[in-house]
Amino acid sequence: MNVNHAMQNLPPYLFARIEQKTAEAREKGIDIINLGIGDPDRPTPKHIIDRMATAIYDGANHQYPSSVGLLEFRAAVADWYNRRFQIQLDPKTEVVTLLGSKEGIAHISFTYLDKGDISLVPDPGYPVYGIGALLAGGQSYMMPLKAENGFLPVLEDIPSDIARQAKLMFLNYPNNPTGAIAGLDFFVKVVEFARQYDILVCHDAPYSEMAFDGIVLPSFLQAPGAKDVAIEFHSLSKTYNMTGWRIGWAAGNRDAIEALGRFKSNVDSGVFQAIQYAGIEALKGPQDTIKENCKIYQERRDVAMAGLRKMGWDIKAPQATFYLWAPVPRGYNSASFAELILEKAGVIITPGNGYGEHGEGYFRIALTVSRERMQEAFARMYKVLGKVEF
Ligand SMILES: Cc1ncc(COP(=O)(O)O)c(C=O)c1O
Repeated sequence: MNVNHAMQNLPPYLFARIEQKTAEAREKGIDIINLGIGDPDRPTPKHIIDRMATAIYDGANHQYPSSVGLLEFRAAVADWYNRRFQIQLDPKTEVVTLLGSKEGIAHISFTYLDKGDISLVPDPGYPVYGIGALLAGGQSYMMPLKAENGFLPVLEDIPSDIARQAKLMFLNYPNNPTGAIAGLDFFVKVVEFARQYDILVCHDAPYSEMAFDGIVLPSFLQAPGAKDVAIEFHSLSKTYNMTGWRIGWAAGNRDAIEALGRFKSNVDSGVFQAIQYAGIEALKGPQDTIKENCKIYQERRDVAMAGLRKMGWDIKAPQATFYLWAPVPRGYNSASFAELILEKAGVIITPGNGYGEHGEGYFRIALTVSRERMQEAFARMYKVLGKVEF
């Protein structure tokens, strides 16, 4: 019996392949430094774990949760938006709880795309945007993100017949994998574009709190009129070192939030309530670990930038996210360069082509190992590469 057409075209998830390569190298006894996966290496703050510990003993939390999440959690999200971005959200209608933002990002395509409908997807980009469209029977139109445009899509380059057929547009700032940031001025232009073509903008913002050099980043929902055309995906994963807990949300346009909630009520049964209480604690409790994390990532970024510059890379240091995006040296493509670095230096980097066609010729480094391991990784790379040329 054959799996369906979409499944036949679905590759194993990018990091599943990388995990397999890492396991193989480790089996050979190689000391691997993994700069591949964007998973915080720091623990979840203790006060959040403590809240979980209490909540887990409460029998009321052992039953099916609401699929759209506890109102108390959604209210904590609305409060957070208000405090952080001065945005008012109605927790009942403008926030839905997700099993991690990845889940909602994949499922929103099922709620908006009919067969053959177009989704505008950044390239390079987080793979789930395009995978959602593929699984829902839609099509992705790739919006190239190029260095010369600050890794922002050029809206004027989207052909108007494509824009007319498009139902969704995904954006993600601060950006994975490029580390680029976008200002409110860009979001304002996107709102106008979305209004003109009747498109739902899905802004994915899990890195909004991971910023360096003292900068503070905007929410898409701060653009005037954004709630008419957009939702924003967000997550506790990166802000509070909670990737394993699986809790996030979408907020914004009430029709889209209602559709996503109704879809979810039919396919999943929500986030374990004890985790939602831990999530409330994360959003409402002490926020100092965010600053501490940013300081640590910024130091690691500086170590990595110094390492790259010593070898000849001339790139701008990212001001947000824990990713560095850099071109491969002359004579390599993304895959051959990542392979060389794994085999000769025992360092895992992510080949840029895993994020789309326009990621070819690039690689991504995640700042998710200690400063010392980062130094060790770059010392090993220097031994292998010396000075590089482009
Ligand atoms: C751009 C982007 N969006 C969404 C996610 C998913 O985050 P989560 O499902 O843990 O909320 C990630 C995770 O790496 C990401 O990089």
